[in-house]
Amino acid sequence: MSYRITSFDQYKEQYANSVNDPENFWAEIADSFHWKSKWDKTLEWEFETPNVKWFVNGKLNITENCIDRHLGQHRDKTAIIWESNFPDRENIYLSYGELHIEVCQAANALKSMGIGKGDRVCLYMPMIPELAVAVLACARIGAIHSVVFAGFSAQALADRIEDAKCKVVITSDGLFRGNKKVELKKIVDEAVSKCSCIEHILVKKCTYEEVNWNKQTDIWWDDLIPNQATVCPAEEMDSEDPLFILYTSGSTGKPKGVVHTCGGYMVYTAYSFANVFQYDESDIYWCTADIGWITGHSYIIYGPLLNAATTVMFEGVPTWPDGGRFWQIIEKLKVNQFYTAPTAIRALMTCGEEIVIKNDLSSLKVLGTVGEPINHEAWEWYKRVIGENKVPIVDTWWQTETGGIMISGLGSFSPQKATFAGYPLPGIQPCLVDQNGVEIKENGQEGLLCVKFPWPSILRTTYGDHKRCKLTYFSSFKGMYFTGDGARRDMDGMYRIIGRVDDVINVSGHRFGTAEIENAINESEFVVESAVVGYPHEIKGQGIYAYVICDNIPSNYEMARLEILNTVVREIGPIAKPDKIQFVSGLPKTRSGKIMRRILRKVAEGEPDKLGDISTLLDPTVVSEIIKGAL
Ligand code: WTA
Repeated sequence: MSYRITSFDQYKEQYANSVNDPENFWAEIADSFHWKSKWDKTLEWEFETPNVKWFVNGKLNITENCIDRHLGQHRDKTAIIWESNFPDRENIYLSYGELHIEVCQAANALKSMGIGKGDRVCLYMPMIPELAVAVLACARIGAIHSVVFAGFSAQALADRIEDAKCKVVITSDGLFRGNKKVELKKIVDEAVSKCSCIEHILVKKCTYEEVNWNKQTDIWWDDLIPNQATVCPAEEMDSEDPLFILYTSGSTGKPKGVVHTCGGYMVYTAYSFANVFQYDESDIYWCTADIGWITGHSYIIYGPLLNAATTVMFEGVPTWPDGGRFWQIIEKLKVNQFYTAPTAIRALMTCGEEIVIKNDLSSLKVLGTVGEPINHEAWEWYKRVIGENKVPIVDTWWQTETGGIMISGLGSFSPQKATFAGYPLPGIQPCLVDQNGVEIKENGQEGLLCVKFPWPSILRTTYGDHKRCKLTYFSSFKGMYFTGDGARRDMDGMYRIIGRVDDVINVSGHRFGTAEIENAINESEFVVESAVVGYPHEIKGQGIYAYVICDNIPSNYEMARLEILNTVVREIGPIAKPDKIQFVSGLPKTRSGKIMRRILRKVAEGEPDKLGDISTLLDPTVVSEIIKGAL
């Protein structure tokens, strides 16, 4: 690809260009895509509102760029390799030509269900090829996809469906994840019963279990799709038309629907993919994320396909049937770029090195991590055991809101330092500010991580609530996008991400607002109040620690604990279950009634001797009780 950087010197030159003249820089990159008609202004922006528009009045369809554009040269090239949950099942290979047909058929099927441009479609699916096809089918006709991770509960799914007023849900009878089976259709039925907007449920067979069937609304994927025409014209989209909504947790209230648009997201995911992973034409690239998260959107589907790459989709989990699953797949498929999360690395480290070195991992050229800070030990292990000290690690920092990788090494030529994400990609202007929003210009300092200038895949709004977008990201510091992360910039100007500075907990790379989990816990009938904080967890990065005040405790605390866990599973899903629940009679509150989380955090972190000043507490005696009962 013409926008691929090939040396560190070239990176430096490109970076300088991108800061000096961002519009020309991005216009040149955008030129390498297929536009139905060209933009007339590269950028229009104002962070106060916020209002950001890239490639203004440009018209395109992202699927033409992901698929059609490659059909001349790459029709028979494999676009997607699917690896089943079960090691003995055959891989599915979808070529660009086949993907084109499947996407067109699914797109026509959606049309036949009355879905058109601007309509929202919810995808609640296993990691099967049809999920990628469904995503692209929505984009083909201009429908806005909202993928919900198929580990969220019926309630969480219903909230997301309602918020976006989705007309259709695409799901499957069930899914396999390791040795677990989840009945997705049942969950969807329950969710849909709480919503008023769903007209149809499209169901792909996956586990072949019996499901409840409503003839009015339910349609089998396998009945509808194969009969569709294999050609579907790509809807003409404005550069700033929404491409998708993806819900993510913030520090307050319900998860918000982050909105990305067509033109800028396309340009940035393609550009960042090509450069961070240094993808060569015949490489096999594998990102282990689930498409339910942003990493799967940008770096399983869009980024790779925009570069005519071969992208692997894995249905299963890293530890089943054993902790060698990833390494076997790398050997079998001869994976060249491997992209995973620190939490997976830490979990697999505990399985020992034997199970790794049995496999031939010599195909690897780049190793990536994403989702949370990687600790020293995990970084070293990844480097030494998986990369045999030969393969570079790219520690990629970014967020659902940024759409693509912001700070990261590029393949093998950027300097590498354990636990450092490194330098910003061209076009990205990060900075550190202090509590008052004053920029910290010197190196060797820590601060709050902000971005000063728009990049093409910055979020445009939060669905249905633009004010919230402004308040959450653009109001803390004037004229800047605030990430919610703290970072350090060392004397070489490299960034190291420290972690969230707001009330967001990052569990195994998944974000939860403390308020969100508290709201769920408070749904248990005998819970009066709760406060949730994060604490360091060996595998998950952060664990969830809940302090709970109960009334009418059932017969014992164990029952209360189970009831709370069940409630959280019902309200959010198993991924948000607290690791520790401590029952307390009171919470440390200031005279104005604010919970002093700092104290709860210190206790949860096992540092009750570092509480600092507690003189402003209404009742300091609760603190000694909490310390005594700490888990
Ligand atoms: C954290 C995932 C340290 C960070 C792409 C951010 C990281 C949040 C890294 C976004 C990294 C992500 N090093 N921390 N390489 N990557 N984070 O929206 O706190 O699921 O704000 O996007 O994950 O999580 P999200």
